[in-house]
Amino acid sequence: MCGIVGYIGKQAAASVLLDGLRRLEYRGYDSAGISIRNGEGFQTLKRTGRVQDLYQEAMRAPDAGTIGISHTRWATHGGVTNQNAHPHLSHDGRLSLVHNGVIENYGLIKRELIGKGVEFESETDSETLVNLIALLYAAELQDPVNEGKPREALMKALRAALAQVEGTYGIALLCADMPDLLFGARKGSPLVIGVGNGENFLASDVTAFAGRTQNVVYLDDGQLAVLSQEDFSVTTLDEVAISPVVDTISWDIEDAELGSYTHFMQKEIFEQPMALENAMRGRFSQDGSTAQFGGLNIEPRELRQVDRILFLGCGTAWHACLVAEYLIEKFARIPVEVEYSSEFRYRNAPLEKNTLVFTLSQSGETIDTLEAQREAQRKGYRVLGITNVVGSTIARENDGGIYQHSGPEIGVASTKAFTAQCHIAAMLGLYFGRMRDMSYSDGCTMVSALRKAPGLIAQALSQAEKIEAIAKKYARFEDFLFLGRQLMFPIALEGALKLKEISYIHAEGYPAAEMKHGPIALISPECPTVAIALKGEIYKKSLANIQEIKARRGPVIAITDAGKEFPQDLADEVIHLPETHEVNHAVLVSVPMQLLSYYIAVERACDVDKPRNLAKSVTVE
Ligand code: F6R
Repeated sequence: MCGIVGYIGKQAAASVLLDGLRRLEYRGYDSAGISIRNGEGFQTLKRTGRVQDLYQEAMRAPDAGTIGISHTRWATHGGVTNQNAHPHLSHDGRLSLVHNGVIENYGLIKRELIGKGVEFESETDSETLVNLIALLYAAELQDPVNEGKPREALMKALRAALAQVEGTYGIALLCADMPDLLFGARKGSPLVIGVGNGENFLASDVTAFAGRTQNVVYLDDGQLAVLSQEDFSVTTLDEVAISPVVDTISWDIEDAELGSYTHFMQKEIFEQPMALENAMRGRFSQDGSTAQFGGLNIEPRELRQVDRILFLGCGTAWHACLVAEYLIEKFARIPVEVEYSSEFRYRNAPLEKNTLVFTLSQSGETIDTLEAQREAQRKGYRVLGITNVVGSTIARENDGGIYQHSGPEIGVASTKAFTAQCHIAAMLGLYFGRMRDMSYSDGCTMVSALRKAPGLIAQALSQAEKIEAIAKKYARFEDFLFLGRQLMFPIALEGALKLKEISYIHAEGYPAAEMKHGPIALISPECPTVAIALKGEIYKKSLANIQEIKARRGPVIAITDAGKEFPQDLADEVIHLPETHEVNHAVLVSVPMQLLSYYIAVERACDVDKPRNLAKSVTVE
């Protein structure tokens, strides 16, 4: 949430920053701004609207300065106005700051600053922070010890200010007195250094400098960074010097570009066969009877002692947790619980001794999941993570885990990351199952089934045109129901979430048999139902549920693998999928759901990749 890009180098900073902001826009898109160090002060431009609007304005008279900071905002404190957009200048014009996070005690600090004569222009907590730093900096400059040492003075002021604030921050800061330095700090909000050749970057995620450098340093909470053109240093809030580890980003610029697609969501839906291949690569044993994971940091002997697994996640990741619950309970017979991260962290749930905790997060930065992970660790539980973003905070802080390797997911609505999580969940079911009662031959059957998933998804994707036609027909409706039973229940929930978040249509997911206990009252010719009816134990029951909807004149879009067996007149539309092992059902059925939502949103002329009120990577509570 909120994107930060800072640059110091030899090129004109404006175009580098705006380019980076465009890539980070998925983190927030209600306003954007840029500050370039120029002459004695800053040239600052900020406005509501999209980065593109800012870009056009900035490029009318581009500034040649080679150091600057920029921001794309997702409003927390203060409405969406030009004044509230970042960067924020200090009252004395000496500092310019961009901030991601929330300063919880800003009200108190602001009152004190007003008492000292500071005037404010915005309603934001961030302006309070920059003014606090500025006031402390001015005081430090008066101290004879700091004479001629503005860098030392600013670092002292920064440390003192950050010690006073409560809440979360990822900041980039410029000082008019130091035209060759860029400052940054983080606590709770991500911040990374892009290490270039004669240039350096500070950003809230690596996509900001994709194509410019592959070298990255992930800052930890409580760390401060100072960047110059040729160098950078990292220290803690208590002035301990850190020897930073420079990692290499494994993907390149094309992965973060649209290419021939119209939207990132569309691109990411079509990337799913590859995303699943990547999730499986090197993760099956040589004899093809089980899964293997390199980064769990836990001995199989210890894993066999696990009596219960707890999965934590938010939103779509929470749906993947439900998929994991079903598959692990079914194939490994280990009791699994699923909780929303945000509920878990405040609930003080009693956990059994031999509980293993998993956090699921595409971004690896979702604050609720990060804090839930920390809470479980504080209680002494071992926490493993399933994350997509390498080097993300959740990935760095957990005790081990599994990287999804889905590539960058830029569309705000998660698609390929979700199916990769579901596929990894199925592999975990296999892995834990083989440690317990699953036979060698059942293991082999499951491995060969899992390997077929990318091909099955490609078959589902080949129906895109047909699904687009269905979407056009149903795009005018304002209410939808999504029904699925057992493993398909979380897929129904996910289908409903996808539709509501990108097309603003009211949609609800239910286990089909629950209809009769209330939701059936919603059925009418104006409320279509997307009903999943896969062959198996409850196929006939699913058909009966569809009958109940038809009897009440509700339009039905059915998704089935029953081929010609599916009764011809039962549904208004039928999307046929290939029959496969149950381990592939979650990923396979997700695909038509995603396509349906995508095409409905396009038909309704919605901004698919940047739905209203949303932002990817929710780093505020
Ligand atoms: C919906 C969506 C969100 C995220 C949720 C958790 O399409 O993307 O519901 O799933 O914000 O995000 P991560 O997985 O990054 O923790």
